[in-house]
Amino acid sequence: MLFNLRSPLRTSKLPALLLIFAVCGSFVYSRPVLGFHSGGVGECEGCHSVHNSKEGAVVGIGGSSLLKGSDPTSTCLLCHQVNNATGPSTYYVSTPDGEIPAGIPPKQLSPGGDFAWLKKTFTWYPDMVSPLNTSPGERHGHNVVSLDFGYQPDGTNLTAPGGGYPSQSFSCISCHDPHGKYRRNLDGTVTTGGRPIKSSGSFDVSPAPDGQTSVGSYRMLAGSGYAPKGIGGSLAFIYPPPVTLAPLIANRSEATSQTRVAYGSGMSDWCRNCHTGNIHNGVVGFKHPTSGSASGTSTGTLDSVMSAYYNSYVKTGDLTGIQATAYLSLVPFEIGTSSYFVLASILGNAPTKGPDSADGTPSVMCLSCHRAHASGWDRSARWNTKTTQIERNGKYSEEGALYQPYGQGRSEAEALQGYYQLPETKFDPNQQKLCYKCHSTLPQ
Ligand code: HEC
Ligand code: HEC
Ligand code: HEC
Ligand code: HEC
Ligand code: HEC
Ligand code: HEC
Repeated sequence: MLFNLRSPLRTSKLPALLLIFAVCGSFVYSRPVLGFHSGGVGECEGCHSVHNSKEGAVVGIGGSSLLKGSDPTSTCLLCHQVNNATGPSTYYVSTPDGEIPAGIPPKQLSPGGDFAWLKKTFTWYPDMVSPLNTSPGERHGHNVVSLDFGYQPDGTNLTAPGGGYPSQSFSCISCHDPHGKYRRNLDGTVTTGGRPIKSSGSFDVSPAPDGQTSVGSYRMLAGSGYAPKGIGGSLAFIYPPPVTLAPLIANRSEATSQTRVAYGSGMSDWCRNCHTGNIHNGVVGFKHPTSGSASGTSTGTLDSVMSAYYNSYVKTGDLTGIQATAYLSLVPFEIGTSSYFVLASILGNAPTKGPDSADGTPSVMCLSCHRAHASGWDRSARWNTKTTQIERNGKYSEEGALYQPYGQGRSEAEALQGYYQLPETKFDPNQQKLCYKCHSTLPQ
């Protein structure tokens, strides 16, 4: 077991940090390293600079806690952004500034999404009488702050809507524990200590925890008690990481087949760590239930009627679908189980299966409508919720048209990438909004 990275180090962290670099070496290097984090703490040198000391004295601190970048997000993006990518690939979640000129979309298609959408602002005229409409970059998701990579804090949402989490200090490590301490144990509990982490726990092919070892939490997401440096204890997380599994190759074009992440349970509660309560309670505009049992707000169950409807819905005007192929990655649902066995079987056997009460209690959750990082649409939505139709005359965009009420300033390439390359032919040429994947009629 590694040392506890918590409190005692905080008071005099720099000397302690240097000391730890000296003593931790054997632990770090003796592990079988398949990736970098492997579900836990990667090699310290991947993120911290250890070359700033001379004869035992610190001579130049590159950033806080001797980070390699100017701040936490900048440190992550040293590896998680790549230049000149030919397409979506592996663990990249950001596209460089120079590669996203007007009309050209960000490249990564991971389930969480490419943060570079935050740097793209779209404008359009919906008709001849309305003024110019704008979809500002900062509305496209979570504005992580990075000095080195040009990500600015959100200028409008000064805290997490519904909560107090400050946008000024928002970074990758607001959500992901950089030291990967949260681990899933044999008995299903999640702890920050105990048995060593043998590997990532994010994938259908991840090994199961056993009596001697644990695996990392889904995507190294933080859980109860977590508050990075500078975030007051009153904002510490309450809820654990979600029960979820992803396919090993999840960052890919969906042109020929969809990417199925098996969301099991707990995602909405996890989001409520910062967006407290049910954010869509109708006080500010949108009213909608969402899953969650830990928080006692479990209201979003897809009952048998709604499940059957989801399974039959193919597109506007076509209700001939069947459960085995009903899943739509633009409208995922929570399976409603904490069984990793069930999740792995859904991923492995029938990647596009729709809701099935034999698997759990299916429900709507935050990621049914939003992406966790960013998207091509306002509010980090999975599809454009600001139009009545997502497709018009067979096109997602109406690039080049004088008035663009549906495409809303996105080029055809941007809109297609915004829909993860799912071909337009998958939908009706005049496809209605995707609320109708679950609702036969929309309650007013
Ligand atoms: C994936 C990147 C990453 C890796 C790998 C990593 N750290 Fe960190 N570490 C961070 C970040 C980010 C912070 C927060 C810095 C801040 O906010 O100033 C941090 C903070 C710390 C702190 C200060 C604690 C605190 O909360 O103020 C210590 C000590 C530390 N790391 C030690 C280590 C050691 C030892 C290792 C190797 C076993 C390691 N880290 C590996 C990213 C990493
Ligand atoms: C030295 C390069 C490097 C740095 C720095 C780095 N990562 Fe990673 N990251 C990787 C690699 C390689 C992978 C894929 C293999 C793996 O997971 O070990 C990865 C995978 C991940 C994953 C998916 C892990 C899983 O098990 O599903 C997350 C989440 C992640 N990184 C977050 C972060 C965050 C947050 C930071 C900054 C605190 C960071 N990374 C810094 C190289 C890096
Ligand atoms: C608001 C919380 C949040 C922030 C901030 C955040 N992530 Fe994530 N990240 C998530 C969640 C949740 C997932 C799982 C998404 C899914 O499976 O749908 C994820 C997934 C990932 C993955 C796996 C690929 C993917 O997109 O699904 C990587 C790698 C990753 N994050 C890295 C990062 C890095 C690097 C940063 C900062 C630049 C960052 N994250 C900021 C919540 C966050
Ligand atoms: C660590 C705290 C934290 C967690 C966890 C978190 N958020 Fe956020 N969220 C924020 C902050 C801070 C903002 C405001 C800054 C911004 O919009 O970039 C925000 C803004 C948003 C917005 C508005 C975006 C916009 O551009 O108006 C949406 C939508 C959102 N979050 C959804 C989610 C979902 C879904 C999850 C769970 C997957 C989640 N959040 C988890 C802190 C968090
Ligand atoms: C059924 C789809 C749906 C679900 C489920 C959903 N949202 Fe939203 N969310 C939306 C839409 C649509 C908007 C934009 C509303 C608007 O702009 O008036 C939005 C807006 C937001 C905003 C911005 C609000 C603001 O005032 O700035 C946040 C934050 C947010 N959602 C978080 C969440 C979280 C957290 C969850 C889960 C607890 C969640 N959403 C579940 C569709 C959904
Ligand atoms: C993943 C499935 C799913 C999607 C997608 C979805 N909903 Fe729902 N919706 C539900 C469920 C489940 C309920 C609760 C059961 C019910 O009221 O029939 C619900 C309830 C509602 C209600 C009643 C809310 C209340 O508290 O009275 C409204 C209004 C609504 N949805 C609108 C929308 C809109 C608008 C969209 C698209 C932005 C949408 N829904 C997308 C599943 C979904």
